[in-house]
Amino acid sequence: MGTKGLVHVFLVSFPGQGHVNPLLRLAKRLASKGLLVTFSAPEICGVEMKKANPKISNEPTPYGNGVIRFDFFEDEWDPSKPNGNDLEMYIQHLEILGKKILPIMIKKYAEQGSPVSCLINNPFVPWVCDVAESLGIPSAMLWIQSAASFSAYYHYSHNLVPFPSETQPQIDVQLPCMPLLKYDEIPSFLHHSSSYTFLKTVILGQFKNISKLTFILMETFQELERDVVNHLSGIFPIKTVGPLFKYPKEVAPNDVQGDFMKVENCIDWLDTKSTSSVVYISFGSVVMLKNEQVEEIAYGLLNSLVNFLWVIRPPTKVQNFDPILLPNGFLEKVGDKGKIVQWCPQEQVLSHPSVACFMTHCGWNSTMEALSSGMPILAFPQWGDQVTDAKYLVDVFKTGLRLCRGVAENRIIPRGEVEKCVREAMNGPKASELKENALKWKKKAEEAVAEGGSSERNLQAFVDYVRSE
Ligand code: UDX
Repeated sequence: MGTKGLVHVFLVSFPGQGHVNPLLRLAKRLASKGLLVTFSAPEICGVEMKKANPKISNEPTPYGNGVIRFDFFEDEWDPSKPNGNDLEMYIQHLEILGKKILPIMIKKYAEQGSPVSCLINNPFVPWVCDVAESLGIPSAMLWIQSAASFSAYYHYSHNLVPFPSETQPQIDVQLPCMPLLKYDEIPSFLHHSSSYTFLKTVILGQFKNISKLTFILMETFQELERDVVNHLSGIFPIKTVGPLFKYPKEVAPNDVQGDFMKVENCIDWLDTKSTSSVVYISFGSVVMLKNEQVEEIAYGLLNSLVNFLWVIRPPTKVQNFDPILLPNGFLEKVGDKGKIVQWCPQEQVLSHPSVACFMTHCGWNSTMEALSSGMPILAFPQWGDQVTDAKYLVDVFKTGLRLCRGVAENRIIPRGEVEKCVREAMNGPKASELKENALKWKKKAEEAVAEGGSSERNLQAFVDYVRSE
């Protein structure tokens, strides 16, 4: 399919799994509406995606009424050099490099008769809007956390409300149009004692040049976070467009998936299990649990006598963690009641009738996927926005049980607690209440992305704007 005549948007992604997934989903939605979408990221991202899914090519791929193509660039970074694993240095390097090469890439497309009408970035590459400004092109950011977390970061970065500090380390935080957040419910990077000072700097860095953005697209939906979205919309040009994965799928000849890990087939195994009999466990693409915690979860599951599907990812090279070890003899004891995989098709798993609940770290993608699949949650947050998402899942959306509160990474949740929560989420009145609420959110999510729904209208308005440029 030709690309001539199609309005062109250029997406720039940071090369992390949790970043690529939502931006690629946005790419598909924009292409389905008839745009030419170029998805650009450092070459390493393309290497990982092609390893997991050899069908991915750099050739333009028809998608809906439009086209998606990849344009990976060499990041000139050698991970084997001293400090090659230093994420902070890599992010700084990417900014210097990106500000040089992105204008060249954009000009190349203009010379080929395919000028770029809008630049879109995801977190960790906020400099993309500086490039857009210098080239006189509109720009947008896809915010991949909740509107509530956005508000927390914004109010913190502009010093607008009191946050915990050295002198008052445990104060609660009241943000406009949000429930009171206890000290351990604000994104943990905002604690004055957080050891993640670098991640805090990177996330807050996005708020420095936010006024340059023409739009902030958010992976949430109006009905889910109505009050805070309304409030923020009075300050920023926000368009809620989520849940991006829930839009009706296009029948594309080569569907483009952004997985960095080979997806293992566990659907056949789920098919053998009875309705609502399986706990699904995954901690996303970044969190690595300590082996002591893995052991407690393992025995908690074993003792609760449920079926379970558990994603245990090997650590990435950058993470440099010890590999995860299951307790000796555990797999033999579990037999066919449990299945362990390194990576699974999470969207499909969450909509499988055998799955009863989801033990998750509450990353925002997993949160949205669970809510819009009608899936009850066992909230096991580790750090960052996950603690705020857990608060919302339990107390606001009311689809979750709290397996632990606050930052969990320095504590070990014992097996008895795991067993108790699993049993409560699987059977009895609390389980029914969670499921009922989860199904309500699923319906609202489907409405948001359906014809005339809030997210669909916002997405269309964004496309209309880009077309008018
Ligand atoms: C990161 C941060 O950790 C999180 O706090 C923030 O909200 C988003 O960025 P990540 O830890 O990867 O995200 O978690 P999450 O946001 O839940 O994203 C994980 C993604 O991987 C989901 O889209 C999920 O569907 C996918 N996944 C996970 C799979 O496709 N297969 C798996 O086996 C596990």
